[in-house]
Amino acid sequence: MCGIVGYIGAKNCVPILIEGLKRLEYRGYDSAGLGLINSDHCEVIKNKGKVAELEKLVHQKNIQSSLGIGHTRWATHGEPSVINAHPHVNKEKTLFLIHNGIIENYLSLKKGLEVEGYQFVSETDTEVLAHLIDHYLKLKNSLFHAVRYALNEVEGTYGIAVIYNGEKDKIVVAKKGSPLVIGIGENENYIASDVTALIAYTKQVVYLEDGEIAEITANSFKTKTILDEDIIKEINQVEVGIDDITKGGYPHFMLKEIMDQPGSIFNSMRGRLVFDEGISKLGGLQGFEERILNSRRIIISACGTSWHAGLVGEYMLEQYTGIPTEVDYASEFRYRNPIITKDDTVIFISQSGETADTLAALKEAKKKGALCLGVCNVVGSSIARESHAGVYIHAGPEIGVASTKAFTAQLVVFSLITLLIARSKSLSLQQGQEIICEMQNLTKKIETILKQNEIIEKIAEQYVDSKNFLYLGRGYNFPVALEGALKLKEISYIHAEGYPAAEMKHGPIALIDDNMPVVFIATKDYTYDKVVSNIQEVRARKGRILAIISEDDDQIEKMVDHVIRVPQTHSMLMPILTVIPLQLLAYHIAVKKGLNVDQPRNLAKSVTVE
Ligand code: F6R
Repeated sequence: MCGIVGYIGAKNCVPILIEGLKRLEYRGYDSAGLGLINSDHCEVIKNKGKVAELEKLVHQKNIQSSLGIGHTRWATHGEPSVINAHPHVNKEKTLFLIHNGIIENYLSLKKGLEVEGYQFVSETDTEVLAHLIDHYLKLKNSLFHAVRYALNEVEGTYGIAVIYNGEKDKIVVAKKGSPLVIGIGENENYIASDVTALIAYTKQVVYLEDGEIAEITANSFKTKTILDEDIIKEINQVEVGIDDITKGGYPHFMLKEIMDQPGSIFNSMRGRLVFDEGISKLGGLQGFEERILNSRRIIISACGTSWHAGLVGEYMLEQYTGIPTEVDYASEFRYRNPIITKDDTVIFISQSGETADTLAALKEAKKKGALCLGVCNVVGSSIARESHAGVYIHAGPEIGVASTKAFTAQLVVFSLITLLIARSKSLSLQQGQEIICEMQNLTKKIETILKQNEIIEKIAEQYVDSKNFLYLGRGYNFPVALEGALKLKEISYIHAEGYPAAEMKHGPIALIDDNMPVVFIATKDYTYDKVVSNIQEVRARKGRILAIISEDDDQIEKMVDHVIRVPQTHSMLMPILTVIPLQLLAYHIAVKKGLNVDQPRNLAKSVTVE
């Protein structure tokens, strides 16, 4: 994953790079480093741990520079350590390089360079690139062409930035498979993995595409493909504001993002509901409606939380559109030679729009002729650009590593897609209008749930010492059980499993005793009576039960240890409500355990490696 940032201009770049790295820390945070080039000297400063540690070190040194690059790492090759941290350098320590991605053929490149006398100090794949570029520089190429020649030998993925003491007036960047954006300033320019690192300074950005390379000076940028073809890039205006990427008074981004949900789901449906026709209007799908409606099959492909959203999407689409729908982990889809035809529509869901497995699955489905739709949050992200068409979820930047508001916004978008297709099939005007009314009421209903934050915090106290959790739900609430369990395990490091409630008796029931908390999502729908029976089964075995129940439920409270009540809505929209108490539960348990909820161990927000 990793975050990269760079600056060239008249200012001292050190605080800009540190600030940028802090904003990119969600991409990885096991070590960090800066590479700085001044008129009189050049220097690399690296540290194990978070950017704050690097910042202390940089302050002690009190250096200034107007050309620099910075990196925050998520280890792939080589443990987190100072030696493996970026930037990597050539032997003379005059060329500095930062990299996000994986150089797959690094071993063969390394062997060739070793024969030439190059020595390696780190265990990383990236160091190969620094020496390979150095090799081409020594053949009297300019930095730009040395980078270009080197990249022509590379297999794998990269977003890289390189600076060189012999050409102090430029940064060279290139992209393949990992994001890279150039920020255009006045007599200064920036580069970064994503716009969050830049928006405090500029809103004008250029997105590099795969196979593109750019040379950036303080006043200009030039772009080519790595095959040396000229290309002209469009300058885009970024809409994200600085308020969107700060904690806004909350102790953690995760809590801010949970609390943001009335607004974020409102934004995801804003201007997209047409009540009079009981239908949705999705500009991003315009021109593709016929092909979607006539799909033989819909496949949804994603990872993690986005995959859980896809599972809810499958239930919605099958119930209301009659089109056979299946959900596939992107990582499995891409490697098992799936049977895809041009009559299929494949929907790729990704908050970041950069997840390597989802992007690769998209490329595979495209090759096989399917219509590929992207459901992304990050505007201009790779999956959004690579898809034939798509719908942005408009949740706003999600910075906490655990996905929360993106999940609920993804569900809103699936409701909109379902409405769009279903109204052209068998869904009546009245049914369409009922769904729209319920969607419009979601904001208020979410606010009611969020008001229970303190109650949920108190409940969380009772479960902090638990070692295992089971989450159970049926129908639309089964994916919510999976998502609730994922939220808990990723931020509190408590083992948690999500299951369809009825599956419990086929194995997990053996785990139940008075030490095993079981979270039931037991709101009123067609599965209610069955779920109540499952609750009784757990109770009979003395399991501790926390149940998410409907506001007006008067049965379940008597059978369980704790309840959290949620308002009722249309059954297909219920997951948008039932997941919120589970997000808060996971959050409070993790905070009470003293853990860093925004940056849980081993995780990164944007998984750009396979
Ligand atoms: C969990 C989480 C991850 C992501 C997954 C896919 O809270 O954030 O499971 O959902 O890595 O990421 P995107 O949606 O960016 O493709």
